[in-house]
Amino acid sequence: MSNSDRVVLALGGAGTVGSGIVKAFLDRGFRVVVISRDSNRLEKLKGFVSPSTKDRLITLVGNVGSEEEVEVAKQAVLKAVGKVTDIVSSLGFSWWQGGPPHTQTLKELHWVLETLILSTFVSWKAFFPLVRDDPNCTYTFITGGAGEKLLMPGTGFLTVGAASALAFCQVLREEYPDVPCKLNQVKINTGVAPPERMAPGYLNHVDLGEAVAALVERRTSSHTVFTMNSPADLKTILLEDNM
Ligand SMILES: NC(=O)c1ccc[n+]([C@@H]2O[C@H](COP(=O)([O-])OP(=O)(O)OC[C@H]3O[C@@H](n4cnc5c(N)ncnc54)[C@H](OP(=O)(O)O)[C@@H]3O)[C@@H](O)[C@H]2O)c1
Repeated sequence: MSNSDRVVLALGGAGTVGSGIVKAFLDRGFRVVVISRDSNRLEKLKGFVSPSTKDRLITLVGNVGSEEEVEVAKQAVLKAVGKVTDIVSSLGFSWWQGGPPHTQTLKELHWVLETLILSTFVSWKAFFPLVRDDPNCTYTFITGGAGEKLLMPGTGFLTVGAASALAFCQVLREEYPDVPCKLNQVKINTGVAPPERMAPGYLNHVDLGEAVAALVERRTSSHTVFTMNSPADLKTILLEDNM
C-alpha cells in the first residue's frame, strides 16, 4: 500500500503537537482527517500545512471526547474517506500549572482527566475497531513524561492526567498482546512548541511530527514505546529511514 492509499485520522490534530504531525503526514503523501471542536482551529491548520498538500487534508468539526458525539464524528469520518488506515492520538493540553492539590477543586481535576485521559479512552474505544484487525494499520498514542514526575511546583494535576494516559497505554499493550494492528506509544520527555514559542530543550512540533510520521509509515514495530528526550532522538528515527 503506498502512502497515497493510506488515511491517517489525527485525533488532536489541530493542537500544537497534532498540527506538526498532520503537516508531516501530508508532506509524505498521506491523506489526513482532523476532528476539532473548534472550526477556527481547523481553519488555522489549513493555513499552516504545505499549500500543495491542502487537498489531502479533510477537516471535521466534532467532539471525540463524548460517547454520543464521537459516534457522529466516526460516521462523518467514514462518509468523508471510506476507510482509515492509521490513527494518531495526541489529545490533551499543552500545559497546566494551576497550583498544589490543596488549592484545587474537584471540578478542575475532572477537567484535567476529561481532557487528558477520558477523551483518549472514548475516542480509542470508538475508532480502534476500524484498524484493530489489520496488520497494515496502526494506532499511535502521543504521551508525555510529565506522568512520571512533578515537572515543577503547582503542576500536580498535569502529572495525574499524564500518568493516567501512560497507564492506559500500558494496559492496552498488556490486554491486547496479539492484536494485528501496530499499537505504539511515543513518550515525549520535554516540551513541544511551534518555532515562535520554542524554549531551550524543546522539540519543534514539525520535527516531532516528521519522526512520528516516519515511525507510522514504517509499520515495523508494535507494542513499543518510543521515548523522545531531545532533538537527537528525532534525528535517529529519521536516519533509520534512510538506511
Ligand atoms: N505540548 C507539549 O509540550 C507536550 C509535551 C509532551 C507531551 N505532550 C502530549 O501531547 C498532547 C497534546 O498536547 P498539545 O500541546 O498538542 O495540546 P493542545 O495544543 O492543547 O492540543 C490538544 C488537542 O486535543 C484536542 N482535544 C482535547 N479534548 C478533546 C475532545 N474532548 N474532543 C476533541 N478534541 C479534544 C484539542 O481539540 P480541540 O481542537 O477540539 O480543542 C486539541 O486539538 C498532550 O496531552 C501530551 O500528552 C505535549
